Amino acid sequence: MELNTIFNENCLETMARMDDEFIDLVVTSPPYDNLKDYDGYTFEFESIVKELYRVMKKGGIVVWIVNDATIKGNETGTSFKQALFFKECGFFLHDTMIWFKPNSFNFGSNYCYRQSFEYMFIFSKGKAKTVNLIKDVPAKLGGQTARGARKHSSGVRDEVPDFVVDEFKRRDNVWFVNVGTKNHGHPAIFPDELAGDHILSWSNPGDIVYDPMMGSGTVAKMAIVHQRQFIGSEISEDYANNALERIRPLFEHQNPQ
Ligand SMILES: C[S@@+](CC[C@H](N)C(=O)[O-])C[C@H]1O[C@@H](n2cnc3c(N)ncnc32)[C@H](O)[C@@H]1O
Repeated sequence: MELNTIFNENCLETMARMDDEFIDLVVTSPPYDNLKDYDGYTFEFESIVKELYRVMKKGGIVVWIVNDATIKGNETGTSFKQALFFKECGFFLHDTMIWFKPNSFNFGSNYCYRQSFEYMFIFSKGKAKTVNLIKDVPAKLGGQTARGARKHSSGVRDEVPDFVVDEFKRRDNVWFVNVGTKNHGHPAIFPDELAGDHILSWSNPGDIVYDPMMGSGTVAKMAIVHQRQFIGSEISEDYANNALERIRPLFEHQNPQ
């Protein structure tokens, strides 16, 4: 199958051409609850999840970023139902993360607190095979020497050498990332940083990263930036063309004439 391209088609057609256990990582965001208008395309959620399970490598991860609509004062809960369906299909729920949007401009209903986050469900096909946790939170005792000795309940101490505490510790699973201000002709674009940090966390250079609902091409862009291979599917011709235009300069930069 051709790599490093975006197919203008339903992702089910793209996945039908993939071998079993082909993809290392999926980072994607589905068209949740018709919250945005995507020209009325139908979204076959259950078939897509079953196909994702087939094409993921053992230990591969699917990052599913999603939110719910509120209809007549009642949140749909679609994100939870989707997460449980992933589990029914065999995926592990590796983690439930939150994307907090400090600059969110979706205020939601006047009867609720300000709408300011999305779920980031991290599913794995069995135990996750690649986990490169980002360590960028300054550690309180970073750089200081700590005692290595451990005391057992019996009162006996292990003699372990003292060690220097790492400067940085791993992040929390709530990520604070501003919503981008440039939309590249698409109503629901990921910030580059969000897609990039998932790619760094759950894949290695050279791995195949797939976005079955590519939108403006953010996942493809960040896969190139981080030296991964990518595949995208996007059902809308306009969005697919915009995404290809967006990533073209990156290829030209890497392969100058
Ligand atoms: C939430 S947006 C993704 C935005 C993307 N993460 C970005 O950074 O631009 C969902 C996209 O999925 C596309 N889409 C919906 N159903 C699809 C399907 N069955 N196959 C491929 N693309 C689909 C929509 O046209 C829309 O562009």
